Amino acid sequence: MDTIHIRGGRRLSGSIPISGAKNAALPLMTAALLTAEPVKFTNVPALTDVRSLAKLLGVLGSSVERNGDSVTISTPEITSTTAPYEIVSQFRASFWVLGPLVARCREAKVSLPGGCAIGARPVDLYIKGLQKMGAEIDLVEGYVLAKAPDGLKGTVIRSPIVSVGVTHTLMMAATLADGETILENAAREPEVSDLAHCLVSMGAKIEGIGTSTLRIEGVEKLKGTTHRVIADRIEAGTYAIAAAMTGGEVTLEGVEAETFDAALSVLRAAGAGVDVQQGQVRIFRNGERLQATNVVTQVFPGFPTDLQAQFMALMTTADGESEITETIFENRFMHVQELARFGADISLHGDKALVRGVEKLKAAPVMASDLRASAALIVAALAAEGETTINRVYHLDRGFERMEEKLGACGAEIWRAKAS
Ligand code: UD1
Repeated sequence: MDTIHIRGGRRLSGSIPISGAKNAALPLMTAALLTAEPVKFTNVPALTDVRSLAKLLGVLGSSVERNGDSVTISTPEITSTTAPYEIVSQFRASFWVLGPLVARCREAKVSLPGGCAIGARPVDLYIKGLQKMGAEIDLVEGYVLAKAPDGLKGTVIRSPIVSVGVTHTLMMAATLADGETILENAAREPEVSDLAHCLVSMGAKIEGIGTSTLRIEGVEKLKGTTHRVIADRIEAGTYAIAAAMTGGEVTLEGVEAETFDAALSVLRAAGAGVDVQQGQVRIFRNGERLQATNVVTQVFPGFPTDLQAQFMALMTTADGESEITETIFENRFMHVQELARFGADISLHGDKALVRGVEKLKAAPVMASDLRASAALIVAALAAEGETTINRVYHLDRGFERMEEKLGACGAEIWRAKAS
């Protein structure tokens, strides 16, 4: 298995182009199943999850062609409605083919999902939502079997909690349902809006985009389109945190600050400089130690759970005690024990982590436990004294495009040792 090595202590300085968002590209690609016409996406990041989803779409009957940063998906016919365990167990977003498959073929057999081990991550709300739309659902040998012989029907679905994946799935299903579907307490994450905009350009009728109530009037069929994937706010936030951690100055290129405003506000509160301009954000620190700052993860527009681990890494060397509360996923603190290897002082109390800032981190061999936790280890290693080895970096490759190259261009001493 590959390892990443970082000799810490270098200030980051330079520009980082931000890639297309993984969490937008994946649902967008599943939406291509809703039409027989080709759908072209641009600004698609080259990541393991994107390749795995392309493979799954191929199994279902799509042809998927990549050309530079664009991906064209054509599905004149869906030849299989089974999404197999071998692929769906690798990453959770692949489960989202459930919505388009039932909508277009009136049946689907989709393996229960896998993905990062960050809590129970049930699928009850997907099932309840589709049942409310008239689908019959059975769970058989680890698969969700969904059937809607007479097609899906529009209805009102109020989710008890805000779920990104449930909103994606039900919104896609509703585009081809009979009548109007109203999704209440829908997720408002930028990736949900990106999917909604793409669906509209495919001919879907959706109102309330960007709000917590989505009204979708089903149509007979959808058509092909070309759509640009939005920038990755989590990648941008990670590099913003890395810049603050190393006391450097980094300009993030091609980002929309409003998509990660909560993270930028917390960075400002901690004492980092943040300068927002059209399409770019500059992060800097004037050498002074950062101040301990509390955060609570929340659904958008709150502080994203996907930056919690990275922010905790930042707080390990801040002045004072910070309290980090995780409200979205239970058990999303696997990075705590790895950060402790660098000498971080963190104690866990239920859904809260108390971080007592130390003067310096020291390099250590560490292991990535999930995608965003791996990014936290990178942040810590960039500032730690000595050479850190990060194991299990396949987690990073699921979500960060060309990370060594991007950080290396800003002066980080980072390299990958390929598994022989
Ligand atoms: C997506 C993101 C992930 C991010 C998360 C929250 C992708 C590929 N993944 O994951 O990076 O951390 O949003 O912003 O875009 N839940 C249920 N029942 C369900 C479905 C969800 O209880 O049927 C719970 C989950 O366990 C969790 C909460 O809802 O506690 C929110 O999760 P959700 O928004 O669904 O996350 P994902 O869509 O899986």
